[in-house]
Amino acid sequence: MKIKMMYSFLNSDINLIEKTLEETIKAESLLLRQASMHTLQAGGKRIRPVFVLLAGKFGDYDINIMKNVAVALELIHMGSLVHDDVIDDADLRRGQPTVKAKWDSQTAMYTGDFVFATALNLMTNIDKPAAHKILANTMVEVTVGEIQQIKDKYRFNQTLRDYLRRIKRKTALLIAASCQLGAIAANVEESIHKKLYLFGYFVGMSFQITDDILDFTATEKELGKPAGSDLLQGNITAPVLFAMKKEEIRKQVEKVHEHMPSSEIAKIISLIKQSGAIDQSVALSEQYLNKALAVLEELPANKAKKALRDIAKFIGSRKF
Ligand code: IPE
Ligand code: IPE
Ligand code: MG
Ligand code: MG
Ligand code: MG
Repeated sequence: MKIKMMYSFLNSDINLIEKTLEETIKAESLLLRQASMHTLQAGGKRIRPVFVLLAGKFGDYDINIMKNVAVALELIHMGSLVHDDVIDDADLRRGQPTVKAKWDSQTAMYTGDFVFATALNLMTNIDKPAAHKILANTMVEVTVGEIQQIKDKYRFNQTLRDYLRRIKRKTALLIAASCQLGAIAANVEESIHKKLYLFGYFVGMSFQITDDILDFTATEKELGKPAGSDLLQGNITAPVLFAMKKEEIRKQVEKVHEHMPSSEIAKIISLIKQSGAIDQSVALSEQYLNKALAVLEELPANKAKKALRDIAKFIGSRKF
């Protein structure tokens, strides 16, 4: 089943989200408008706005309120991708050249800032201080996670815990916040919105672990973004950490450095892939997914719950 089929009852609302996304990034500056429209129109799975809307279905769902939060969360995600591609020196995103590649890093930094500010502007339509606090804190955490990743580059003695703490910040909390803010915007009672938050957190952990696996197992064409570059760039992810439990592999991995010739890094990547580390990473991702599904069981039954379950399962087996 295609992911869009899992929430077809939201179709008209999703179309409104797309329209609103385009309308809100119409900047006065031609450059900012072109660069942000370029990233937006390249596509993307839009899972964060979908989580916002589905969480809202547990309360008083008013699309005219919900759309502000849904669009804001996609924009914050999008801004972080535009910045991420500068940090990761990536030339491809959503199957298109990145802003950094098509224009330059300066343009990308300002485009990301512009998209963030646009998101915050939309959020002013939400008359709830708690929502603003959650969003601001989440943006701080994402930044801390990304900085930690830079500090942890080529640090081969880091633990799985270090990795999990980092991906919680850089990815899982924004997905958790999407669920939580969708619920808050729809006045969902606290006991339920806390569960939705937890669901988002577990799904987000599984999502980033899968992203890190796909960096080893998928191709650039499948992903629409570079593959195979995390390790060379010193980003130590779950597959590497599991593989390093074998002493022979640890010794090889510890030799990795920024300028390692591609034939050598290819050998190490293939050692990692043959070590069973990918299966261990898949199992870790599934553990988080099962936790997400267990939290979901505690929520009242409705269409949104079923859609969340299907999307969570899709995320566990996703290939892009
Ligand atoms: C990519 O997120 C960055 C991660 C947190 C792994 P997505 O995989 O949701 O990217 P798009 O929006 O679909 O392009
Ligand atoms: C997630 O990490 C990016 C952010 C949270 C901003 P990655 O660097 O792995 O994301 P991709 O693989 O480039 O999409
Ligand atoms: Mg990155
Ligand atoms: Mg990246
Ligand atoms: Mg990645």
